[in-house]
Amino acid sequence: MSLTSSTIKSRVAESYTRFANEYLKWTTDASKRLRLRYMFDLLERLDVECSEGNKKINGRGKFQVLELGAGAGVPATQYLASYGCLGVTANDISTAQLELLAMNLPNDAVDRVNVVEGDMFSLNFPPESFNAVVCLYSLNHLPSNEQREMISRISSWLRPGGWLLVNVANMPVEIAVDEQWMKEANNEGGWMYWSSLGGDATATAVEKAGLTIRDREVIAEPEGGQQGMKEVPFTWIIAEKGDQSLSMEHPTANEKQPGKDFCGFLGEF
Ligand SMILES: C[S@@+](CC[C@H](N)C(=O)[O-])C[C@H]1O[C@@H](n2cnc3c(N)ncnc32)[C@H](O)[C@@H]1O
Repeated sequence: MSLTSSTIKSRVAESYTRFANEYLKWTTDASKRLRLRYMFDLLERLDVECSEGNKKINGRGKFQVLELGAGAGVPATQYLASYGCLGVTANDISTAQLELLAMNLPNDAVDRVNVVEGDMFSLNFPPESFNAVVCLYSLNHLPSNEQREMISRISSWLRPGGWLLVNVANMPVEIAVDEQWMKEANNEGGWMYWSSLGGDATATAVEKAGLTIRDREVIAEPEGGQQGMKEVPFTWIIAEKGDQSLSMEHPTANEKQPGKDFCGFLGEF
């Protein structure tokens, strides 16, 4: 049986709903810290400064950020939601993941986070709706023929000067299916699908979509953080919607000295 896009989406959603809790535990603290470093980098580039401190709800909605495949919201959505002046739209295809996300948000952030359930490929937003789009470990759940188009749509939703943070498996893979993914963490595991254009072709798609890559790095992570598990290299890309000719010197996420607020957040993981 050939895999249609809708079969892939419904089976992926069903599996994440089955093991949403286990997936959250399976994600290591080191992997959460890595996500946070990039989130910090993104918000620095966006020049987000909420008046009277990051935690205050001032200037609400000044910056709009979209997170695609947000999962349980730990730690990326939580971090976004800790900024009072960000309006956050968090999308995921799995009901259970979004239920967890709602539980993981700080109480004062609930009205600043707009939760949108569904396939990211079916979303519609007016052009130039967002200052930033975040897509971590989720683009690769789309069939490969949708990924370039997804990047192009993301670009159209970004305002000029807006930013994309995305990561993808670095090695190109047309189709990878695991019938019992997460079996070690959840008795049955679940059917899972991935596809990756790979780091190089994803970077090309990002540029063709009118974005300028400002940071690109390959980082290998042990899958599920288990000792002895194979390492999976991911390409992380930070790109800006704007003039390709402008170059900007900016340290990479790993070279940065995080600010005080960020360190407090990081300490939780
Ligand atoms: C590997 S998890 C990553 C979650 C989160 N971004 C993180 O960094 O921990 C992938 C997430 O993408 C979601 N997802 C998969 N396919 C999707 C789609 N077509 N549209 C929206 N979300 C999707 C899954 O439900 C899951 O929550």
